Amino acid sequence: MGYELNFLYPKVKVENTFVFNTRLWTSKDKLIMAPMHTLTGYVFRNAFDNIFPQSIDKAITPFISLTHGNLEFSKRKYSDLLKENNTSTIEIIPQVLGNDPKGIIEVCNTVFQLGYKEINWNIGCPNQRVMKKDRGAALLKDTLRIERIISEVIEKIQIQFSIKIRLGDQSKEDIYRLIPIINQYPINNVIIHPRLAIDSYEKAVDLDSFEDVIKQINKRIVYNGDIFTKEDFSTLKLRFPQINDWMIGRGLLFNPLLPSEIKSIEYVDKKERILAFHNELIKETKSLNKFKEYWNYFAVGLSWSQEKLNLLFQTQTIEELDNLVKNNI
Ligand SMILES: Cc1cc2nc3c(=O)[nH]c(=O)nc-3n(C[C@H](O)[C@H](O)[C@H](O)COP(=O)(O)O)c2cc1C
Repeated sequence: MGYELNFLYPKVKVENTFVFNTRLWTSKDKLIMAPMHTLTGYVFRNAFDNIFPQSIDKAITPFISLTHGNLEFSKRKYSDLLKENNTSTIEIIPQVLGNDPKGIIEVCNTVFQLGYKEINWNIGCPNQRVMKKDRGAALLKDTLRIERIISEVIEKIQIQFSIKIRLGDQSKEDIYRLIPIINQYPINNVIIHPRLAIDSYEKAVDLDSFEDVIKQINKRIVYNGDIFTKEDFSTLKLRFPQINDWMIGRGLLFNPLLPSEIKSIEYVDKKERILAFHNELIKETKSLNKFKEYWNYFAVGLSWSQEKLNLLFQTQTIEELDNLVKNNI
């Protein structure tokens, strides 16, 4: 009976084998917007939820760096988190980047006072400028330092604490050394991007290591990496049915409709929605460079030619860019 029902659903390709797509998305699954510095701030999150309602359940904010100004509360530093700026229904989890326990505690306490229930600590960022200062993924090789920071921070905060990691800096031995610490402390969940920092975004995601690692971790795991199509999600869900939290970054920039496609929310007016999304963003964001960055992604999803994209990069004002988009969508 179940087998026959499966014929009602389309086939998906899984590692060179065709399997039947039994409703892989379940009501337990959650889609999480990845933090993308300078791109997924509150304007983007609000617009996303307006135009593609209920497609994203949670969002981790781009990191707040401990070195942004002094540690005291400043509206500018926390503007991305202020409740009045966050009008969407998406659950927001702020993120902190840094290696100074006192600074992290300060940010945790401020974020808690702002009304948030959870904070995420970024120890996975592979950016060279970040890593040179021993922050982000640079910490992954120094397990003892991570433990010192976690033990000091967790003892002094009221907010739930989660971490976002890669498999390691230069070697996946880093994550194996980290597992006992993750298991020992009350960490709410662990977001894993299964690559090394030295691999940045090159090389395939290492799903074999991910599979091995998650068997040994006693915390809720969030999968993150290279979900670019609904089929990518299906392949991962078939292999990791025990995972319910899925974080998407570049995939939702290339195709803002991807989260709804994964949840089988079908829109017939795809291009119109992307235009509406662009219009919402442009109402609030006046930076030409930021729009060029957004369109560097959106254009791929809309299969724009390189020629058209070059025209967009040559625009000198935001009005010019806006007109070009409206005439070409
Ligand atoms: C432009 C850009 C900015 C990013 N900023 C952050 C950040 O602020 N915090 C963070 O934890 N990860 C950051 N990341 C990493 C993403 O959150 C995510 O882990 C990565 O893109 C892999 O997921 P994906 O394959 O779905 O894109 C950034 C990635 C990109 C491309």
